[in-house]
Amino acid sequence: MDLPYAEPFRIKMIEEIYQSTREEREKWLKEANYNLFNLKSSQVFIDLLTDSGTGAMSDRQWGALMTGDESYAGSQSFEQLQQTVQNITGYQYLLPTHQGRAAENVLFSALIKDGDIVPGNSHFDTTKGHIEIRKAHAVDCTIDEAFDINDLHPFKGNICLKKLENIYKIYPTEKIPFCLVTITCNSSGGQPVSLENMKAVKELSDRYGIPVFFDSARFAENAYFIKKREKGQENRSIKDICKEMFSYGDGMTMSSKKDGLVNIGGFIALNNKEIFRAASNFTIIYEGFITYGGMAGRDMAALAVGLNEATEFAYLEARISQVEYLGNKLIEYGIPVQKPIGGHAVFIDSLHFLPHVSREEFPAQTLGLEIYKEAGIRTVEIGTLLADRDPQTRENRYPKLELVRLAIPRRTYTNNHMDYIAAAIKNVYERRNEITRGYQITWEPEILRHFTVQLEEA
Ligand code: F0G
Repeated sequence: MDLPYAEPFRIKMIEEIYQSTREEREKWLKEANYNLFNLKSSQVFIDLLTDSGTGAMSDRQWGALMTGDESYAGSQSFEQLQQTVQNITGYQYLLPTHQGRAAENVLFSALIKDGDIVPGNSHFDTTKGHIEIRKAHAVDCTIDEAFDINDLHPFKGNICLKKLENIYKIYPTEKIPFCLVTITCNSSGGQPVSLENMKAVKELSDRYGIPVFFDSARFAENAYFIKKREKGQENRSIKDICKEMFSYGDGMTMSSKKDGLVNIGGFIALNNKEIFRAASNFTIIYEGFITYGGMAGRDMAALAVGLNEATEFAYLEARISQVEYLGNKLIEYGIPVQKPIGGHAVFIDSLHFLPHVSREEFPAQTLGLEIYKEAGIRTVEIGTLLADRDPQTRENRYPKLELVRLAIPRRTYTNNHMDYIAAAIKNVYERRNEITRGYQITWEPEILRHFTVQLEEA
């Protein structure tokens, strides 16, 4: 008989998690004003709120922590990290930051001016925030296939070259500081960008003299999809693919909390000395000296090891096949999910799951709350609460999709947990016709409401 797949690691340390009763969960939800961000982690059995900074480090990473060099300037841990980043990306200069959005803040301070246009693919919320706070505009040029959850295009993160060139033609070059390629696209379902598309984006941008930067939070997962899905790439190593990916850009921002396999951290890497110098000044103002930028030496040491581990095929196969395992279970149960299954998360389409809940009563939030009530699983709403109000009219903005994201932390849960999650969601699905009412807002802040909004049953 063929041997089944098994993870290429064993577990050395465990953390107990509490399995609560439905009664407890209903009480806690009410106290949390029906906002899952307000729950204490001790009230959560399986936490799928995010895959950011929530994964498990390896024994080698824990070992590296002990070797951290905490010197303010020129620490050896910085050197190790710089060497690793150079090996993986080919970018010469490195600026550490405390997390991904800090890398955006530093780099964008050096590059973006009032009135600029930043084209890209499904810019992440904080990325968009850092563009808009500078009175610039993010223009989404993702291919149309990305917006049909049943379209099986293998690279739904790809940039539409026509849309991009259109931007390049409409606006003068000096208004476009760079094009931002997000790998993988979190906001459109953890979907990858192909090597072919990266190359074409770079060639097109070169013709117009516009630099290309990567938002690389999940770059290794993107490389895995290239190896698995792109013609002619199947025999290459992940590290080799990463090197080619980054050769089609001028630099990157990174949230190390994802494919850096650490709990906190970020960085900028790039080749242009002038931009490096300009960004260095902002690093010193916002983050710390340029050889630590908000990170402890030991965290840089663990990150150097994490980046090497994350770019190994065996690690990625275990990681992404677990997400796929959960996605396929849900598909088997008839649950509407975004396809193909993404690298870091499964996204449930709540408009098809809960057709009786009106959009004014937040169907994705309602579904997330039902899943928590059912089994103590915490997810996150990617729908109308997140889309927030129009700044001018103050009306709710209704996005095309109302999704519930099940983000899977790296190396943290087993496939028994995945079975438990799938069963819980199946139970909610079986009683979906009884769920006819959603929630209404009792309090919300001016912006970024989904983090702190308070709700009651409608
Ligand atoms: N870019 C992408 C594509 C992201 O997904 C994130 C964070 C960031 C940038 C910002 O990085 O959190 O280190 O400041 N995504 C997390 C999530 C928060 O839950 O998807 P950060």
